Amino acid sequence: MTVLDILIAPHPTLKAKAKPVETIDDGLRQLLDDMLETMYDAPGIGLAANQIGELQRVLVMDCGSRTEDEAPRPMKIINPQITGISEEMSSYEEGCLSIPEQYADVERPAAVQVRYQDETGAQQEQIFTGLEATCIQHEIDHLDGILFIDHLSNLKRNMLMKKLRKLLKEREEDAAADG
Ligand code: NI
Repeated sequence: MTVLDILIAPHPTLKAKAKPVETIDDGLRQLLDDMLETMYDAPGIGLAANQIGELQRVLVMDCGSRTEDEAPRPMKIINPQITGISEEMSSYEEGCLSIPEQYADVERPAAVQVRYQDETGAQQEQIFTGLEATCIQHEIDHLDGILFIDHLSNLKRNMLMKKLRKLLKEREEDAAADG
């Protein structure tokens, strides 16, 4: 498995809409394995194909392995479609591997029903709740070119992007200083 480079905002591929997957083959399964490896390495709990520069409607997530006592729960999700949402909303402090070290509360439906294909091509339908509901909505947003900061006010979004630019500049300067 390979750890892939994660695109950082602003990047045009992060604003683009991913295309439905037509053929689920070994190449796609390899991509999904590499995406999981990249996500665990980051580390993060979700990763969408746009973030590694592939405009295909696939995402991986694992909300089960944040602590050492919890068993890993890797999920590989192809062509996801939200088929139902709860009226109840919930708010989580979200972050994103493409917007490093920036966090903000985002309100979303507390539960979602999602139809998708697994890596064998079989149709699945599942209800996601709690952190998994937030995570899968965040990742499906990525496939539509939407970032979590797009759910915030212009003021808040501009503030986070300004902080991100400052962070990236500092990292660049540190890298240069290190030779
Ligand atoms: Ni993200």
